[in-house]
Amino acid sequence: MNGHRIKPRHYRYQHASATLPPLQFIPLARCRLHHPRSQARSLLKCSAMAASSRVLALLAAVSFLAVTAEALSTKYYDKRCPALQPAVRSAVARAVAADTNAGAAVLHLFFHDCFVNGCDGSVLLDDGAAPGEKGAGPNANSLRGYEVIDAAKAAAEAACPGAVSCADVLALAARDAVSLLGGPSWNVRLGRKDAHAASRDAANANLPGPGSGLPALVAAFRAKGLSARDMTALSGAHTVGRARCSTFRARASAGAGGGDGEAINATFAAQLRGACGGADGALAPLDAVTPDVFDNGYFRALVERRGLLHSDQELFSGGSQDALVRRYARDGADFAADFAKAMVRMGDPAPAPGTPLEVRVNCRRPN
Ligand code: HEM
Repeated sequence: MNGHRIKPRHYRYQHASATLPPLQFIPLARCRLHHPRSQARSLLKCSAMAASSRVLALLAAVSFLAVTAEALSTKYYDKRCPALQPAVRSAVARAVAADTNAGAAVLHLFFHDCFVNGCDGSVLLDDGAAPGEKGAGPNANSLRGYEVIDAAKAAAEAACPGAVSCADVLALAARDAVSLLGGPSWNVRLGRKDAHAASRDAANANLPGPGSGLPALVAAFRAKGLSARDMTALSGAHTVGRARCSTFRARASAGAGGGDGEAINATFAAQLRGACGGADGALAPLDAVTPDVFDNGYFRALVERRGLLHSDQELFSGGSQDALVRRYARDGADFAADFAKAMVRMGDPAPAPGTPLEVRVNCRRPN
């Protein structure tokens, strides 16, 4: 778990300036910066000649970053690949029709992509010279659905060869998975590029674990530019999918007699202990109320203290998120609207400047 409060680099921050040519200095008497095409005047005014060389250097650096970065836009493929979105949706719909769990798997993949060095498709890379993210602690024997993304990417390649990144295919597939399971839909901002390499260390460091307390969860999401409210809404993704006993055994055991202060319904805890038996890999639904429908059942379960993971129940344990959890439990539409907005924001982080990027043909390896 990474509690560092670094300001993440977002694709969207690049939007305003990415289409503009570099700033130029014009020797005006009033000493202002002037943009030749937009005529927009900089807020920066010179006060005498104070530190002008440092200001010039800083602005040169900022304008360089701006023009080298790419913008995300909901219209990115409108001309480049109009057939893209129906192609991805069909591939995801086929997978979900064959196996309901495929939808949860794809949503899970998108979260684990975006929280590790930005949304760059790195989670999809097989191990190369260096160990990839697939084998990281939070991912190994857990993430699945890679073949769903392969199929969606194949459909994208058939429609528009070499044009669509794996990171964008994953972002679209996650949106489609949610709506196919009965949840909200939203316009996906697109134009991501794929990383050449994945980082196991970064995956181990950045993904919050199921034993996390509320402060750690808030910090992990804040480190990605997401608020506590975003975090609670996004945790509602656990309205679908399954978890292995290894991730909730401690909570179920602590629940015997309500031990260790774990807020868990005693009957539910007994059910979980029974379901687990001795097998770490045995599965239980993350949403005890409506396991396979994307609705607000997860929040209703939290209010009944039937959250599966310790980190789930932390959202409703007498802390800052209780009121929001109650609201989502009461009002599914409210949850759906917040979830959609938070998913857009979760999809914004870009890889660090200077990261080599490309549009991978095969999501499992660099070109
Ligand atoms: C708040 C912090 C979070 C923690 C601590 C957490 C932790 C976990 C854990 C431990 C599992 C079970 C993994 C396994 O047993 O293999 C899981 C599953 C899942 N998570 Fe999260 N998660 C968090 C947030 C999110 C977010 C933000 C999303 C998506 C937006 C998400 C989507 C999912 C899905 C869909 C599954 C089920 C996957 C499947 O059935 O294959 N999680 N999560």
